[in-house]
Amino acid sequence: MKVTIFGTGYVGLVTGACLAEMGNHVVCVDIDAGKVERLKQGDIPIYEPGLEPLVKGNFAEGRLAFTTDATPAIVHGDIIFIAVGTPPDEDGSADLQYVLAVARTIGRQLDRYAVVVNKSTVPVGTADRVRQAIAEELTARGVTVDYDVVSNPEFLKEGDAVEDCLRPDRIVIGSDSPRAIAAMRKLYAPFNRNHDRTVLMDVRSAELTKYAANAMLATKISFMNEIANIAERVGADVELVRQGIGSDPRIGYHFIYPGAGYGGSCFPKDVQALERTAHAHGYEARLLGAVEQVNHEQKAKLFELIQRHFGGQLAGKTIALWGLAFKPNTDDMREASSRRLMEMLWAAGARVRAFDPEAAEETRRIYGDRGDLVLCEHPYDALDGADALAIVTEWKAFRSPDFARIRGTLATPVIFDGRNLYDPAAVEEAGLAYYGIGRGRSLARS
Ligand code: UDX
Repeated sequence: MKVTIFGTGYVGLVTGACLAEMGNHVVCVDIDAGKVERLKQGDIPIYEPGLEPLVKGNFAEGRLAFTTDATPAIVHGDIIFIAVGTPPDEDGSADLQYVLAVARTIGRQLDRYAVVVNKSTVPVGTADRVRQAIAEELTARGVTVDYDVVSNPEFLKEGDAVEDCLRPDRIVIGSDSPRAIAAMRKLYAPFNRNHDRTVLMDVRSAELTKYAANAMLATKISFMNEIANIAERVGADVELVRQGIGSDPRIGYHFIYPGAGYGGSCFPKDVQALERTAHAHGYEARLLGAVEQVNHEQKAKLFELIQRHFGGQLAGKTIALWGLAFKPNTDDMREASSRRLMEMLWAAGARVRAFDPEAAEETRRIYGDRGDLVLCEHPYDALDGADALAIVTEWKAFRSPDFARIRGTLATPVIFDGRNLYDPAAVEEAGLAYYGIGRGRSLARS
């Protein structure tokens, strides 16, 4: 099929590459000329496992094209995806200016039936606004063209985005148009070969499904972080509690890992946006507010443990950080817990030596060159001259470190394990003090 995708961010680029891989002819449009040029050269702006060969391969085969020129792209597409950003505006609502600008561009050009698909995470009611924006442009041109607006939210996880896109666990299609549904079914048929994963619904339910999924996952994490904070105070180990509750299939083992808080481009933004939507419709979503509050406080957790350990005296200390990205297998630093930790450490007069397998460049871009931040090439380099080690992101490379080497290098042998990667007893046996998240002994120590 002929597909056009507006926006070459995470969602747009991954969706475009995966649809091209399935044999469709995909044109990706972006207003950033530099980015489009880089993509044509096979230079992928984000780190995402498996994406580069998919983009390069399909580009070489002529199934994937990149352009800044919206006009021929709109002429090309039978299905036109809108996958541009919806950043939070000042009050936390999703800012729809980019989505609606694309809708107007489509309306200015459309000259035959097309299915316009909202792939961006957009508040309930956005499909109606997109439909309206297109209609206004058509009216201004004095033409009548048939089109449908469909909601087809994306559930991909960074780091697993290609895999999630090629092997989705559900394909949510929100539409009441048989013609649009038929086109979407045809597009997704190759993804549905073994069993049909399509969940058909009305547009508004599809829009809400995306927010509900992210809010539910964020709630699980904040809930577990709350249990961790209780465990710490009552002298229990949340890791044992986690296994104890996860074995109940109604609860499950997924997404109940306590830690230094959730980050990324979706959870913080979507929880807030859903809260704003509820408020705008006269409902105060108290639970969502609490989920956000718990997460905000959790991001300060590692700093509090470090500060307490050093008796509040952090000026002149150097803290080694393992992990900067908001989660493993990405270089994304958006809302990363490491940022809050570094900023609190700097404010307290401490220095940071950090190692991350992918996010160093992004960190340098955000913070620039500063005397109190050294980005290291190797995890053990970060320990040189450091007083303590804090684990912020659970990259696999950090899972079984050489504790003797850590002990031999750190000025004070202490690990702050923000992702509960280690067995406290094993760390202590190696002669290092250990603090984790919600592990009774972490508080007992101070
Ligand atoms: C999320 C959703 O998972 C995905 O379905 C949606 O489309 C976009 O948002 P993503 O932001 O890529 O994906 O990351 P995810 O793997 O969900 O992790 C989000 C954050 O939660 C990370 O900071 C992670 O460290 C944290 N997390 C996750 C926990 O603290 N504990 C857990 O048990 C799981």
